[in-house]
Amino acid sequence: MKNIKLVLLLAFCLPAMAIAEGVNTAGYSEKTPEATLKAIHTLFSKEFSPDIKGDNWVKGSMNFNKGSEEYNKLMTARMNDDFDQPVGYPEAMAAGKKLWETPFANGKKMADCFAKGGKGAANDYPRVNAATGKVEVFEHALNKCRTDNGEKALDYGDMKTMGALSIVARRLSDGERIKIEVKTDAEKAAFNRGKEIFYGRVGKFEQACAHCHIQKAGKIARTEDLSPIIGQAAHFPVFRIHKATDGVHVITLHKRYQGCQNSTAVDKKLQIKPGSDQSSDLEYFHTYISNGLPLSAGVFRK
Ligand code: HEC
Repeated sequence: MKNIKLVLLLAFCLPAMAIAEGVNTAGYSEKTPEATLKAIHTLFSKEFSPDIKGDNWVKGSMNFNKGSEEYNKLMTARMNDDFDQPVGYPEAMAAGKKLWETPFANGKKMADCFAKGGKGAANDYPRVNAATGKVEVFEHALNKCRTDNGEKALDYGDMKTMGALSIVARRLSDGERIKIEVKTDAEKAAFNRGKEIFYGRVGKFEQACAHCHIQKAGKIARTEDLSPIIGQAAHFPVFRIHKATDGVHVITLHKRYQGCQNSTAVDKKLQIKPGSDQSSDLEYFHTYISNGLPLSAGVFRK
C-alpha cells in the first residue's frame, strides 16, 4: 500500500516545490561528513535496528525480502557452478581476465601498475587528486595504467571491457574494508559536490537519490524493495539479470547511476554519465557512507 501511494505522492507533489532545494531528509543539513553519516545511521537505526547491523548492510534490499535473498543465493550458486553458469557470466570473467593478464605491447601488465600486484588496491578509492581537486575512481586508475603504458583507454560505459576488467581487478580487494578519508579542503569540496547530487532533485518527478535510498529505504517502489544507501557502494560491479538472454551482465556503479536516472525519468541529455566528474563526485560521497564495510565485487544483484 505504502509503495504506490509514495510514488504517486512524489510524482504529483514535488514539482510544486523549489527545484534547486535538495531533499531535506537525514544528513541533508549536516555540515560535515561525520555528521552526515551519523544522521543517516540515526534514522536507519530507528527504522531497521536491530534487524540490520554490521556487515549485513551490504545485503541491501535483500534485508527486507527473503524471496529475493533466496533468489540471490540460487544465482550465486549457479555462477559458481561450472556446469550451470548463467549466459554472460563466463564470458565476462574471461574478458576481464584477458584484459588484466595479457601483457601490453611494451611487455608490462596491469598488475605492474599497482602495489602487491593489485591485491587490496581498491579499498581507498575513490581518491581526490590533491593537484587537480578531481575525484579519481578505481576505473580511472585502471585506464591510467593502460594509457601510461601506451594502450588506449577503455570506455567507462562499456560493460564488456571496462566492466569486466573492473570485476577482475576489484576482486583482488574482496574482504578489504572501505576506507575513505575526507580531511583536506579538496576532499571536503568533492564530498559536498557528491552529496549535492545525491540529495538533489532531478528528472520529471523531481526525485532525488535520497528520496528512495534514505527517506524511503526499506519501503517498496513499484515492485522493488528500496535499499538503504549504507552498503550500496561495497559490491560493485555486480552481475544483474539480462532480460534479453535470460543470463547475466555486468553493471558498474556508474552504470547503475545511469539505470536509476533512467528509471526516474531523467532526460538522457541531463544524466550524469559513467566516468564523468559528476558520477565520480557522487561515488566519492556514496562510498564514504559505506566506510568500514567489506568489499565484494562481481556478486549477483537482481
Ligand atoms: C524512485 C526511486 C529511486 C530513485 C530516485 C533512485 N533509485 Fe536507486 N534504486 C531504486 C530501486 C527500485 C533499486 C533496485 C532495488 C534496490 O536495490 O534498491 C535501486 C537500486 C540502486 C542501486 C543498487 C543497489 C544494490 O545494492 O545493488 C544503487 C547503487 C542506486 N540505486 C543508486 C541510486 C542513486 C545514486 C540515485 C540517484 C542518482 C538513485 N539510486 C535514485 C530506486 C531509486
